[in-house]
Amino acid sequence: MSPPPAQPGSLRISELHVAYGRSVQALHGVSLTVPQGRIAAVLGSNGAGKTTLLRAVSGTLSLHRGTVGSGTVHFDGVRLTDDPARSVAAGVVQVPEGRRIFGSLSVEDNLRAGFLGARRRGGAERQAARERVFHLFPVLAERRRQAAGLLSGGEQQMLAMGRALMAGPRLLLLDEPSLGLAPLMVRRIASIIREINAQGTSILLVEQNASLALALSDRASVLDVGRVRLEGASADLAGMDEVRRLYLGESCDDGEAGEDAVSSGAPAAAAAAGGPGLTELSRWNG
Ligand SMILES: Nc1ncnc2c1ncn2[C@@H]1O[C@H](COP(=O)(O)OP(=O)(O)OP(=O)(O)O)[C@@H](O)[C@H]1O
Ligand SMILES: [Mg+2]
Repeated sequence: MSPPPAQPGSLRISELHVAYGRSVQALHGVSLTVPQGRIAAVLGSNGAGKTTLLRAVSGTLSLHRGTVGSGTVHFDGVRLTDDPARSVAAGVVQVPEGRRIFGSLSVEDNLRAGFLGARRRGGAERQAARERVFHLFPVLAERRRQAAGLLSGGEQQMLAMGRALMAGPRLLLLDEPSLGLAPLMVRRIASIIREINAQGTSILLVEQNASLALALSDRASVLDVGRVRLEGASADLAGMDEVRRLYLGESCDDGEAGEDAVSSGAPAAAAAAGGPGLTELSRWNG
């Protein structure tokens, strides 16, 4: 049952089955890998199982009454179980869907909360993490004493990412960072994701915005009702006629998804389209 040895620093999810209670089987044998230093994307429509996959990696399934039936998650050779402290200690930190910041606390106190349970706990490291966050997100430094609930949606997303970075993650799990944000803010968040990655943090990015996810990531998997339907290099997926038609909202004669897709933040369109072999994925815009 044990998977082959993983490369150092990589995330390896192997044949993962997850259920909520007895009636909802959310993942049916999902496997994927995030090599060290890379950005991997998971795309899929509402209910595909994207958030469930991240919960399995961050050890938070049982908080949502979910259980792993079989399969394994390893990060850097460490088996991750349903224990959030273990995942954080291994260097894996999740930015949850919907941000989940503490609205009545100040920006600074939200960031402080991110440091609790971090792998590195010294004062100097805490200061370095804070400076890194303020460098990436200057607006958080400006608003440090303001109640977090007063921030805009985009700023709250930045705070949620900043809070996660306070824990010094080696792998950051991002759940729909572009959700509900205006195109300009999507573009800023995208460039910050690139910068975080360039600083050495691997990223597992969950998105319904296929243009954004494929432009940012090295590899991508398309989840459909708990199963991986497509998997490969993001550039290859972005070039596939079916993907472009169904998820990127392009006619097949158009240009490729790339920076423009990120700048526009255009969500996948053509939800009504259905193509051979990919029909079920037409629920993309759910
Ligand atoms: N706490 C829960 N209890 C019961 N069922 C759940 C729970 N969380 C998720 N599910 C179910 O598991 C399946 C996968 O849900 P999940 O939230 O992982 O999908 P998703 O791809 O993240 O969707 P979305 O794009 O809407 O965020 C869905 O059928 C959903 O209804
Ligand atoms: Mg989700």
